[in-house]
Amino acid sequence: MKPNERFIVALDILDFERIKSLVDSLDDLCKIFKVGPSLFLRYGKEIIDFLKKREKSIFLDLKLNDIPNSIGCAVKEASDMGIDMLTIHTLGGREMLECAVSSRKGNLPLLLGVTILTSLDKNWFSYMRIDFTIDEMVSYLSLMAKEADFDGVIASAMEIREIKDTCGKDFLVVVPGIRLFESLDDQKRKATPKEAISSGADYIVVGRPITNAENPREIVRKITESLVY
Ligand code: C5P
Repeated sequence: MKPNERFIVALDILDFERIKSLVDSLDDLCKIFKVGPSLFLRYGKEIIDFLKKREKSIFLDLKLNDIPNSIGCAVKEASDMGIDMLTIHTLGGREMLECAVSSRKGNLPLLLGVTILTSLDKNWFSYMRIDFTIDEMVSYLSLMAKEADFDGVIASAMEIREIKDTCGKDFLVVVPGIRLFESLDDQKRKATPKEAISSGADYIVVGRPITNAENPREIVRKITESLVY
């Protein structure tokens, strides 16, 4: 895969005109755009149709977690809508994950299991009285997703090697929490684009470093160049 094919832009903006100009300004550089809950709640099918018209791949990041039947219905809708990638929480359990897989039509959307959010760290594990380490928990949930026939998982750059060792190199690992510089925000398990890709990430997800940039094209260029060298 070329660097720009590994790159997912998180469209965490709620102004449609800004979204249009961002997507158009990155047209030759980015192929996959991520739509999260707030954007989907505000614009629904309008945003999906817009991205399809621009021939972009759509990652619908709704992080679904529900009973198996409801998840199955949601996956069927996503399939019909032509979504390319969809997230479902692995903590919903094996039966729910299997129901997701059996409900999609054909091979799309790619089903990605959310393991442990990159905004959580070991303090959250103690707070929740979980005795496992983050690595152990992420590997365990990844293996469950793999056994349910998921295409991959979402995890931080720190867990990629362990996931690939446990689930095999073809099991996709999609990595958010990407930062170019030291920054103070809600993300805790962070990495640079180069660290994530050299650790084996199949895709990286970048939101605010691009959407908050004065010149998003410049940032995307910097990231893709850092992946080549
Ligand atoms: O702005 P930032 O680069 O932190 O955006 C990361 C994006 O990835 C957000 O849209 C967030 O919802 C998403 N995400 C995440 N952690 C996960 C799964 C998805 O940060 N485990």
